[in-house]
Amino acid sequence: MSLMGILDRVADLDAFDKVIEPARRAVQGALKPQALKDFLHGSWLGHPLHPVLVQVPVGSWVSAGLLDAIPSMRPAATVLIGTGVAAAVPASLAGAADWSEQGTGVRRLGAIHATLNIAALGLYVGSLAARGKGRDTLGRVLSYSGLGIAGGSAAIGGHMSYAQSSGASHAATAARALTTEWIDLGPLDDLPEGRPALRTGQGGSVAVPLVAVRRGTRVDVFVGACSHLSGPLYEGMIEKVAGEDCLVCPWHGSAFDLEKGQPRRGPAANPQEKLEVRMDAGRVMARVPGRHR
Ligand code: FES
Repeated sequence: MSLMGILDRVADLDAFDKVIEPARRAVQGALKPQALKDFLHGSWLGHPLHPVLVQVPVGSWVSAGLLDAIPSMRPAATVLIGTGVAAAVPASLAGAADWSEQGTGVRRLGAIHATLNIAALGLYVGSLAARGKGRDTLGRVLSYSGLGIAGGSAAIGGHMSYAQSSGASHAATAARALTTEWIDLGPLDDLPEGRPALRTGQGGSVAVPLVAVRRGTRVDVFVGACSHLSGPLYEGMIEKVAGEDCLVCPWHGSAFDLEKGQPRRGPAANPQEKLEVRMDAGRVMARVPGRHR
């Protein structure tokens, strides 16, 4: 079994769910109001914020490890370690916000990821304290230990992103399965007014759910699987969020504006994939955008 395959086995274990679930609820309760959560998710950015923020502590600590190997550069290494410690706080908050809205397997690995990160942060804080007292050798032992643990934790975070698709757009995956031809969604008059309606697009040998929203003669069509975790948007509702008419996911309440599919409320950080639409003799035709053709 590969090293990362072991992580998949760990993600199957329910042994610590009794601890993880209360922790998840505590994080959700602590991160308020919704605007703060949305900021931490990266809904305003159209991209998860956590992977952006972690560049600073990871980069600072790796660089500090290199500079610590050169005696004359050790004061600079201490500055970088302090920078990484300060930057780890917002990065952790963004990660905690995302983690609290993920599926079971991601939450299990995420709990290990968070525990290791806290351990690494503690070692770096200890390293700064030791360096401040002139105990430089102990300071370097602690920071190199922190670097090793942070590196292992980063590998787990990468597995969560790439193997478990946390933070990835689930709507983009569904869009790539769609045919590149125009899809006939039926007569305009068959669509209900102001409510999401399920329609089906063809993709290779599979049917891909789409969601169509009619407002008068205008129709907006999106991939039916929510970009957050594939929730059924066609079972959602239309709501005004942040002054925009939005399609709201029934699973975790993410809101995507009908105009462009941008997230106006999290936990989704990625936009919802929107299809091109044209009318043909009273029938609604939709096509996947050029980036997926
Ligand atoms: S699946 Fe989570 S908000 Fe849609």
